[in-house]
Amino acid sequence: MKDYQYLQQKYLVNTYPNRGLVLTRGKGVYLYDQNEEKYLDMMSNYGVNIFGYNHPYLLEKLSDQLKKLITLHCSFNNDTRAMSAEALVKRCAGGLTQVYFSNSGTEAIEAALKFAVLATGKKKFIACNNAYHGKTLGALSATSGEKYRAPFEPLFWNFKHIAYNNLLELEKAIDDQTAAFIVEPVQGEGGIILPDDNYLTNVRKICDRARILLILDEIQTGVGRTGYFLASEKEKISYDIVCLGKGLAGGIPIGASLVSQKVALKIPKLIHSSTLGGNPLACGGILAILELLDEKTLKKVGRLGDYFIQQLKTVKLPLVKEIRGKGLMIGVELDDKRNEILRQLQINKILAIPAGENVVRFLPPYTIEKENIDLVIKKLKEILNV
Ligand SMILES: Cc1ncc(COP(=O)(O)O)c(C=O)c1O
Repeated sequence: MKDYQYLQQKYLVNTYPNRGLVLTRGKGVYLYDQNEEKYLDMMSNYGVNIFGYNHPYLLEKLSDQLKKLITLHCSFNNDTRAMSAEALVKRCAGGLTQVYFSNSGTEAIEAALKFAVLATGKKKFIACNNAYHGKTLGALSATSGEKYRAPFEPLFWNFKHIAYNNLLELEKAIDDQTAAFIVEPVQGEGGIILPDDNYLTNVRKICDRARILLILDEIQTGVGRTGYFLASEKEKISYDIVCLGKGLAGGIPIGASLVSQKVALKIPKLIHSSTLGGNPLACGGILAILELLDEKTLKKVGRLGDYFIQQLKTVKLPLVKEIRGKGLMIGVELDDKRNEILRQLQINKILAIPAGENVVRFLPPYTIEKENIDLVIKKLKEILNV
C-alpha cells in the first residue's frame, strides 16, 4: 500500500496540522481508515457532514443532479438553482429576500462585507474578539487573533474588535462611518462561547438605532447545528445579512450570503460574481438538505445536545473547567492537555476537534444516537481516569 500520509505531506502546502490518519471512506456516523479501522465521527468534518456519510437520500439527489448538470454560470437560469434559492430564502425568513451563492464560508463573508459597503456607502466594521469568520483577506480582517493576522497586517478592511456579549462596547465602537457589526450567534472556533440571553435582540436594537447593518455569521451555527435552522431564529430578530456554509449543500462546497430587500437593491450587476458559485450540483445538495432537515430532526439535535451536555457534566474532574454548548455544538474547556485528550480520543477511535486555546469541540452528525454519546462519555472517563 502506498504511504498516503507521506505523499500528502510531501505534495500539499503545509498549512494544516496533521492528525496522522489516512481516512478513505465513510458510512453512517463512521469514518474508515485504509486498514478498515472504524472511527466514530464526532466532528462531521468541522460541521459539514451533518447527515453522516452515504446518506441514501442525499446520495440519490446528488447523483441525479450530477447526471443532469454539474455547473452553470449564474447568468443562465437553472431549475435546481432557482428552487434551492426560493426554498432557502423562505426557510430563513426574518426579512431576507435574496441569496448570493459562493463556494465556502469565507467567500460568503467576503460577499457580505462588500454588500454592506454597497448598501451603506460606508467602510468601517465592528467584529468581536475571539471571532472566526474565515481566512481570505476580507474575512481575515473580521477574524480576531494575532496568530492568523500578524503576517498580513495592516489588513485592508477597517475593523474594530470589541468584547463578545458587551453591548456597551458595541455602542461606543460605532461612529458615522460604520457600515456593519458582524457576529457569530455562538462563537465556534473561538471555543464555543455562548451569547447572553437576548444578546442578538439587544444588538439588533443598537444597530437599528445607529443605522448600521447587522451581519450574522451562521456558517457554523446554522443549518440546524443548534437545534434550530438558524441559531438566531429563536430571538425572532429581523435580518440584514446572514451567512451560511459548511453542511448546507450536503458536503458539496458552498457559501451563501442572504440579504434583505433593502440591501439587495443596492447591489449592482457584475460587482461580485463567482464562476462556480450557485452550481446546480451544490444547489441540488441544498434542496436535499432542506428536505431532510425537518422539525423532527431539529428536535432530535436539541434533545441529543442536551443529553450530551448533561452526560459530559458527569465527567467531573479537576482538568475539566467548563462545558458549554447549544444543540450539537459542544465544547469541553480543559485546564490543560487539550491536544493530548484529542489524541487519546483518536487512539480510542473517536474523532473530535480543537477550538479556542484549550477546548475539545464536538460537532457530530445529526444522525448520531444516544449510544454513540454514551461511548464518548465512557472513553472520556477512561482517558481522564475517573
Ligand atoms: C463562523 C465561521 N465563519 C466562517 C468560517 C469559514 O468557513 P470556510 O472554512 O468554509 O471558509 C468558519 C469556518 O469554520 C466559521 O466557523
